[in-house]
Parts: sequence; structure tokens; C-alpha cells
Amino acid sequence: TQSTSEVARMKNLNIIEIGQFQVEPWYFSPYPLEYAYTPTLYICEFCLCFYANRTQYGRHRTKCTLQHPPGNEIYRKDEISFFEIDGRRQKTYCRNLCLLSKCFLDHKTLYYDVDPFLFYILTKRDERGCHIIGYFSKEKESADNYNLACILTLPQYQRMGFGRVLMQFSYELSKAEGKVGSPEKPLSDLGLLSYRAYWSEVLVDVLVGYDGEISIDELSHITSFTTQDIMHALFNLDALRYYHGQHCIVLSERVVESYERFQKKKHRKIDAACLKWSPKV
Ligand code: ACO
Ligand code: ZN
Repeated sequence: TQSTSEVARMKNLNIIEIGQFQVEPWYFSPYPLEYAYTPTLYICEFCLCFYANRTQYGRHRTKCTLQHPPGNEIYRKDEISFFEIDGRRQKTYCRNLCLLSKCFLDHKTLYYDVDPFLFYILTKRDERGCHIIGYFSKEKESADNYNLACILTLPQYQRMGFGRVLMQFSYELSKAEGKVGSPEKPLSDLGLLSYRAYWSEVLVDVLVGYDGEISIDELSHITSFTTQDIMHALFNLDALRYYHGQHCIVLSERVVESYERFQKKKHRKIDAACLKWSPKV
């Protein structure tokens, strides 16, 4: 037998339609009862309002005037834009975003108290508007030096390098703040895989291009990664050695070769020169 809380946390949504995509939720999300358990939940891709049937959704679409997330565009290059949204000012949008992202996150509980967070929405622009790809949230003040609370790439855009773009953006903000940062713990399995891959790529890139000695603190200064995350990534690359009483970083041939293969592929990258943002004082 299941307890009420277990029943309440069972997956409650069938199909979500957002923009031109239909996706299947992975986990429970606390949408109001009259919206869950419908064959399809329709979500407006611009304001993230949700509807239990196509008629209501269609009516909304004729009235909705938004063509991008309701915040400041703080980055634009090629077809990619980032919008910054204050949870206190755009409560409905941010709550709707949390409901949507809970469908793909099993271990987070943020739905209603969005005030303490800023939300950074990654979008792709075409003639119809700026379409949401993913986002991350960030506490306005983090006692633990977290630079990211929650990260999501919508399933229809996963494994295309957008997670990297979101992670890079979070570290560009930390660099602009002159701080180091780290994602909030615990990480999901996919979060850990993606962060590990990202930290390793960035560190190998710095190390391969570096002549001479470099310390973990210097690496931290260059990347805005915490020394802990750097050690984690280097350990994972099997790049930490102990020689003659000293710790050294050694990149194996295998690591360098896979780095070179990675470099040959085209990767989406944030151009820090296009970031129009400075930390609030
Ligand atoms: N299997 C294996 N490796 C993976 C996978 C996967 N399913 N997903 C990502 N990776 C690794 C790979 O090394 C990948 O590089 P590659 O594709 O060149 O091999 C690398 O991570 C980066 O992949 P991206 O395409 O840039 O990442 P994506 O856009 O798919 O986003 C994310 C990653 C955000 C974690 C996504 O999987 C997601 O939204 N998951 C659901 C929500 C979630 O778990 N978020 C993290 C919670 S923890 C937190 O919020 C602090
Ligand atoms: Zn709308």
C-alpha cells in the first residue's frame, strides 16, 4: 500500500504541448488537479500559462502579446538571447516556470517562493519571437556561494550543447561579480554528468594552452570554479599525481586526444563581450 504522500508524488501528467513540441514529463509536478490528469496540458511558450484543453489554449494565444520572456534581454548573439527575470517582480511567470521544470527534476522543492531568486532564460530567436530552450535560477544572495540553484534544458533541446551554454553563462556572471561559484547540491545524475563534463572541458582547455606552472588557486581565478570543483574534475580525469612530495596535474594522452576530438566539433559558446550585465551593488 502507498501512503498519501507517495500517491501525491506519483507522475500526474501525460503529455505537455509547448510551442511546436509535445513532451512527456518525467516526474510529478504540482499543477492544480484540474490541469493534471488531462490527456494533454497546453502551455503557452511565451508566458508559460497552462490550459487543460486546446480551445482554452487557442483563446489564450489570440490574446497573449508576449513574444519573449518578461524580463531584460542581457545577452544577444546570433539567434541566442538570455533574459534576466526577477522572481519578486514576475511571480506568475517564475512559478509557472518552476512548475514546468519540476516535470524534469525529481529532487527540488522550489515552486512558490520565487522572490529570492533571479531566473536566466535561454531562448532561440526567429521571426515569431524568442522561444524558451532552458533556464537556470540563482539566489540573489547565496550564503554557500552557489552561483546556480536549478538548471534545465527542455527535453526537446537536450544533448545539443545548451546545458554547456547555461553553465558557461552562470560562470560568466560569477566572473563579472569577481567571485567563484558552484551549483547547489545535491546535483541530479544528469546535472553531475553535465557539470563534470563541463568542468573538465574548460580545465583541459586552460591547461593545454598554458605554458609553465599553474596552481589550483590560479585555475580557480581564471575559471570562477571553486577549488573543490576543480579537484573533483581533475580527480575524475585521473590527472592528479604525487611526485617527489608535490601534487602535480598530469594530462594523459587519452585526455588530450579526446580534448582535440572535442575541439574539432563545433560547439556553442557564450561570447562574454555580448553580455550586457553588471552585478547589483
Ligand atoms: N547521458 C550522458 N551524458 C550526458 C547526458 C546524458 N543523458 N546529458 C548530458 N551529458 C553530458 C555529456 O558529456 C554532454 O556532452 P556531449 O553531448 O558532447 O557528450 C554534456 O553533459 C553536456 O551536454 P549538453 O547537451 O550541453 O547538456 P543538456 O542541454 O542536455 O543539459 C541538463 C544538461 C541541464 C542537466 C539536462 O540534462 C536537464 O535539464 N536535465 C533535467 C534537469 C536536471 O537534472 N537538472 C540538473 C539538476 S541539478 C541542479 O539543478 C543544480
Ligand atoms: Zn501566453
